[in-house]
Amino acid sequence: MLRASCRQEPRFGRIIGVGGYRPQRVVDNGEICRSIDSSEEWIETRSGIRRRHFATREETHAVMGAAAAEKAIAAAGLDPLDIGCVIVATTTNLVSLPSVAVDVAHRVGARRAGAFDLNAACAGFCYAVGTASAMIRAGEADHVLVVGAERLTDLVDPTDRQIAFLLADGAGAAVIGPSEEPGIGPVVWGADGDQLEAVVMTRSWGDYRHDVAGPPPVMRMDGRRVFRWAVDEMANTAREAMSAAGVTADDLAAFIPHQANMRITEVLAKELALPAHVVVADDIVTTGNTSSASIPLAMEHMLTSGQAASGDLALLIGFGAGLTYAAQVVRLP
Ligand SMILES: CC(C)(COP(=O)(O)OP(=O)(O)OC[C@H]1O[C@@H](n2cnc3c(N)ncnc32)[C@H](O)[C@@H]1OP(=O)(O)O)[C@@H](O)C(=O)NCCC(=O)NCCS
Repeated sequence: MLRASCRQEPRFGRIIGVGGYRPQRVVDNGEICRSIDSSEEWIETRSGIRRRHFATREETHAVMGAAAAEKAIAAAGLDPLDIGCVIVATTTNLVSLPSVAVDVAHRVGARRAGAFDLNAACAGFCYAVGTASAMIRAGEADHVLVVGAERLTDLVDPTDRQIAFLLADGAGAAVIGPSEEPGIGPVVWGADGDQLEAVVMTRSWGDYRHDVAGPPPVMRMDGRRVFRWAVDEMANTAREAMSAAGVTADDLAAFIPHQANMRITEVLAKELALPAHVVVADDIVTTGNTSSASIPLAMEHMLTSGQAASGDLALLIGFGAGLTYAAQVVRLP
């Protein structure tokens, strides 16, 4: 008979620390308009974005991810050796191996941790939180470091007026630890393959290798299609996550959706009939859309600015290329 990790006493997962890293270079809408036919006013009214951060060459996924992770580990009051696993959610890493997670674990001194990358596009952070919570409940790890780290600018054609103003760079991190009370509700997730074509790469890196005379791969997005799908489908997913966690909108203190577009956030908040006391994350205004880094960055911003407090209940929902999606209700650290 094999022995398996199986806990006698039930235990749950809980976020116990968050941290963020925003690249040094701030890019305003005026600078973006030098590359695309647009206006500062159009960008702000259609997306909510006023400025964002672009990474330099030196601000790699691992550099940004480790900086965010160090803050999260310090906020959790842990020693890096307490971390049992590191999960890096990323969709923009152009280096297949080794994984970003091993580099982040090494940089922060998490020498006893397993480490792997997870790609669920902009839903990556919520996928990773669900995975970490399951690992802790099963007894496979006591503390899991979850990081979202992205360099969208490596994949964006700066002259593409659909996405050049929307996407940006950064990293956010959370430490998930054990708790006697549930601190992370069940994850409600999925992958809608009917929408495979909504956000794509123009070609594969393998194809590019065989034909370097052609242009390198970049992202393309059918913005209207993603917008319509998000406002049609994501309110139901959010309701399912609340119902699975046994809470209603009245119990929430914060709504922290993927910072895709402020208009999508506003439509979802309206469809969910969130009461006036629920604070809605608006980190996109100064950070742009940073894919899997956007939710932990927005969470950190809400906590450090005093918009939300430790112990508050927050509804998280991520969605992105695939189209993938994942939502859960969490107690803020
Ligand atoms: C990309 C997005 C901001 C575009 O906004 P939109 O309101 O849908 O804009 P549309 O594409 O319908 O275009 C509306 C008009 O603005 C114009 N337009 C498009 N991009 C523009 C730009 N950057 N600047 C100025 N005008 C622009 C279009 O040409 C169109 O003009 P027309 O009405 O004369 O034809 C929006 O679709 C969006 O945010 N989608 C979801 C993106 C997302 O969440 N992605 C997540 C991926 S992980």
